[in-house]
Amino acid sequence: MQIKVLTGDITQIECDALIVDIYEETGGPEGAAAEADKVLDGAVGDLAGAGEIKGKPGEVTVIHTLGRMLPRRIAVCGMGKKGDVTPDKVRSAIAEACRALRSSGAKKIGAVALGSIAGLDKKDVAQALAEGAILGLYEFRRHTTKEREYPEVDELLIVAKDDAEAADLQSAVDTGVIMADAACLARDMANEPGNAMTPSDMAAAALKMGAETGIEVTVYDRDWMEQMGMGGLLGVARGSHQPPKFIVMQYKGGGDKHAGLVGKGITFDSGGISIKPSDKMEEMKGDMSGGAAIIAAMSAIARLKPKINVTGLVPATENMPGGGAQKPGDVFTAMNGKTVEVVNTDAEGRLILADALSYANKLELSPVIDVATLTGACMVALGNVCSGVFTNNQDALDVLLKAAVQTGEKVWQLPTYDEYREQIKSNIADIKNVGERYGGAITAALFLAEFIGDTPWVHIDIAGTMSSDKNKGYLVKGATGIPVRTLVAAILSLV
Ligand code: BES
Ligand code: ZN
Ligand code: ZN
Repeated sequence: MQIKVLTGDITQIECDALIVDIYEETGGPEGAAAEADKVLDGAVGDLAGAGEIKGKPGEVTVIHTLGRMLPRRIAVCGMGKKGDVTPDKVRSAIAEACRALRSSGAKKIGAVALGSIAGLDKKDVAQALAEGAILGLYEFRRHTTKEREYPEVDELLIVAKDDAEAADLQSAVDTGVIMADAACLARDMANEPGNAMTPSDMAAAALKMGAETGIEVTVYDRDWMEQMGMGGLLGVARGSHQPPKFIVMQYKGGGDKHAGLVGKGITFDSGGISIKPSDKMEEMKGDMSGGAAIIAAMSAIARLKPKINVTGLVPATENMPGGGAQKPGDVFTAMNGKTVEVVNTDAEGRLILADALSYANKLELSPVIDVATLTGACMVALGNVCSGVFTNNQDALDVLLKAAVQTGEKVWQLPTYDEYREQIKSNIADIKNVGERYGGAITAALFLAEFIGDTPWVHIDIAGTMSSDKNKGYLVKGATGIPVRTLVAAILSLV
């Protein structure tokens, strides 16, 4: 889809449908909606008067213009109350409107700067429109042979006041396109079935991303992991016929800072010998969503070119119960020399991350942000609305919290109090990989903390947010691509 900014009278924009905004408390058309209303002999106002248009968030009312304006339809988007409007509401509103218009056959869609009459900055709006439209129209069709029911939307036109504004908005749109394309790349990878997204496939996807963006990508094999002493990654990989891969991606933007992004790349999590129940096990093809987020974030960073160095690390393996698999009770030595008792082979993400975080320290990366579909306990705590975040350094986390407000990808901080550490003491090794049932997201984070030491570090548990079970706002059924945009925004804010 092409996204262009243009100027002109909104009733004369050449498109199949034009999207305008309306608010809950005003109860009638204002701004662009009022201009359209005038040409349509008060149709919008009548519908609002009759209570058919309420202006509530998520509401989209499509009205045919019957030749009175160039766009054949207008879509009136409910934005809620003016005081509550945020760029994230704009993202959701444009996504809902674009999907509604696509299903009625629209290929070329126009939109005004939704939310700007409520006081939002127009550049923020332009970026949000681009992101919301791309994310909301996303479809994963690689494995379906069925014909499309409707054509793809191939153009989005955003209407600006004048040429000076148009130039400003176009650069915000371009940033939005880069952000959303990256989130869609992460979705594409995480939506793939496990047989099409093995560790080798993940490595190939990273190499392809590198070739397209100029990021230097190196893929290491088992021999290298043995030299590095990566007992955690090698231990998890033992139960699978698929060879493990360790993916290293380097972006050199200059300056003194060198940040690290680390993602869990379990391309299928059967649980290993501590095997999972079969119900919903297929969802564990998405257990590489953290790794996919890192590969995708690196692509956006390469395109946005911030003056900072960033290295992305993705340990990738399947977690399978093959004959060679590690067993509950086994002990291994991680790359940083710590010994770990594997009480439960299904707590495998923390084992591969133990080595990846140790390697991040060897490279002296700082700060380090890791992303992982780590614990069911995080889902129990926070549901699917926000990701859990943890840190050993509040300043580092504050950067991420701010970035998450910008992107609308909600996060919530959970504690890392020392008292929880008791739970992962082992009788026979330095540490064990699971604690008690309660507080499981926290003990998992504390386990990771053992391998990052004093380096400022943030851990994002996306178990609850990696996928969506319905189309809602700019999320569509399947992988969400969370928290790609937040990672990129956080890196940009470190410059
Ligand atoms: N990949 C899972 C966590 C997960 C669960 C992600 C649901 C997404 C949705 C992880 O490897 C796992 O199995 N964790 C166990 C840990 C337990 C054995 C301590 C869990 O959360 O049940
Ligand atoms: Zn597991
Ligand atoms: Zn897992």
